[in-house]
Amino acid sequence: MQVCNGAGPCHISCNPRLKLQSSSVSRSSVICKRRRAATRFKVVDRSYPQSDIYWFPRASGINFDSDRYLGSFKCSCQRAESSNRLASDDGSQNEKLYVNKAKEYGTGNGDIFNVLDSEVSRESSSGKEGCSPNGNVAKHGAKRETKQKDGSKSVEDEAWELLKESVVYYCGSPVGTIAAQDLTSSSVQNYDQVFIRDFIPSGIAFLLKGEYEIVRNFILHTLQLQSWEKTMDCHSPGQGLMPASFKVRTVPLDGDDSATEEVLDPDFGEAAIGRVAPVDSGLWWIILLRAYGKCSGDLSVQERVDVQTGIKMILRLCLADGFDMFPTLLVTDGSCMIDRRMGIHGHPLEIQALFYSALLCAREMLAREDGSADLTRALNNRLVALSFHIREYYWIDMKKLNEIYRYKTEEYSFDAVNKFNIYPDQIPPWLVEWMPNKGGYLIGNLQPAHMDFRFFSLGNLWSVVSSLATLDQSHAILDLVEAKWLDLVADMPFKLCYPALEGKEWQIITGFDPKNTPWSYHNGGSWPTLLWQLTVACIKMNRPEIAEKAVEIAEKRISKDKWPEYYDSKKARFIGKQSRLYQTWSVAGYLVAKLLLANQSAANMLITEEDSELVNAFSCAISSSPRRKRRHKRSEKTFII
Ligand code: GLC
Repeated sequence: MQVCNGAGPCHISCNPRLKLQSSSVSRSSVICKRRRAATRFKVVDRSYPQSDIYWFPRASGINFDSDRYLGSFKCSCQRAESSNRLASDDGSQNEKLYVNKAKEYGTGNGDIFNVLDSEVSRESSSGKEGCSPNGNVAKHGAKRETKQKDGSKSVEDEAWELLKESVVYYCGSPVGTIAAQDLTSSSVQNYDQVFIRDFIPSGIAFLLKGEYEIVRNFILHTLQLQSWEKTMDCHSPGQGLMPASFKVRTVPLDGDDSATEEVLDPDFGEAAIGRVAPVDSGLWWIILLRAYGKCSGDLSVQERVDVQTGIKMILRLCLADGFDMFPTLLVTDGSCMIDRRMGIHGHPLEIQALFYSALLCAREMLAREDGSADLTRALNNRLVALSFHIREYYWIDMKKLNEIYRYKTEEYSFDAVNKFNIYPDQIPPWLVEWMPNKGGYLIGNLQPAHMDFRFFSLGNLWSVVSSLATLDQSHAILDLVEAKWLDLVADMPFKLCYPALEGKEWQIITGFDPKNTPWSYHNGGSWPTLLWQLTVACIKMNRPEIAEKAVEIAEKRISKDKWPEYYDSKKARFIGKQSRLYQTWSVAGYLVAKLLLANQSAANMLITEEDSELVNAFSCAISSSPRRKRRHKRSEKTFII
């Protein structure tokens, strides 16, 4: 019941032994049913340590009566009113509790939901749309046209309105923001869902405005989805995976045609284009959880047993031993913001930066208890190994490039300099021209005999934010951003990656993907949402003027262009060919950048500094680098902290 009390209106049974083995599952419980072709139902008991993951065979007495709403959380809309009251009681208490902390961060005690709540409850009480987010979006969309024409609002005001309009409600409580509100698009695909990664800038914007409830609800509801059954062709990924997105569906109540209920329906990649598992979701979830605690001052969420279990499940999934020789996380193509084939399978930088950041955040939040000593040890070891690996092997600048150019190959030895057997001929001709004298960056990916030299923005920016990059490297990354402004910012910040894949490379690597043509979408398109990560990185390095310049550029067009998802062409001059308009994370990314530039200390909720213990361990790692003599004896210096 702990989950339920915090998350809002739904009465959720968290102990499968208590509830689910009963054949008469109460309607107000989460009714967990088999989804699609699964053969077993998996439940995680969050009140017990990780080992308590129970598998219920079909014959266990769980009532699998309908395939229709399988695997969805249910709550009856009729109960939303009383639940709302509960939520707001809770909310006002929270408000009192957090007000001091909010002052500390200089965040407002925002009231944006006051307006919004009344609009939504009016709509709900009309009975037609129920609590469905899509109904709201259509209405607001019409209103938006008239508002834009009068031209009296600032870009920031408009952004707030759009963000409010994008809020998705579940049983009367705000739980997330819809990916896009593009009424002109003929194909909605999954842009009517709440994406975990897309919600992060929305969540940060709400936190900065003092609106904590939506973030809290988001954290707790997505946590519930974490233990969902997820299957593709009879195979399930590891426990702990967070969905890429979820949707609130309003469906007729079983056995009562006159009533409806709402269900939360997650997508773990089993419906996604390309069937990719979103590795980044859980990592972002941990980062947001920490930010919520830091900004609101409410640590009770991260201290909850179920939340602690959620963190551990994500960590265990990421820290599980495998065949790897590298400390980087091995993932498939499309496992992050770039969620379709773009040749980033293996150890893409974006995932590594989020992984590192999430490890540091989790380290801060994990309760110190005997049961988790092994996990903490594994976490610390991984942090050290990961930062060493990325800083040493992913880093390139003019000096390093020259080293690679002169690499010897086929070195069979423990002391090889060219450990990954990189053939110098793979240094692409564009890079020699492109690399500035001052500046450098972390490459996109590293595999045996392969360096992906493309510059990936999110990975580099988040390496700065999380301190995965050293101080010097972080400055050098920003130096490169300045030196390559016309390639990375040009008419609209910020290029997702540079350069684009073209010709045969594009054909082979993307599989002829017509959406990822050169200088479009993930293949060298420009994404306004990246403004917020750029801003946090610049603030961390005490160089906010870089972000300010980028925001100014964005401001010239973004509202006139209707907040596109991405821009095309080398200099970001076109609105993306298949870009959605009124893309929420474009709106939120801009807002967060503005709010943080106005209140820079608030960026601390996202920034992680390197721990001095880890710095020491890191210098041990450097001094025992296998570039030097390989030790045969066990070192007296240990990296276990
Ligand atoms: C696209 C993007 C992905 C984003 C989703 C929703 O698929 O590639 O990163 O989360 O749209 O906006």
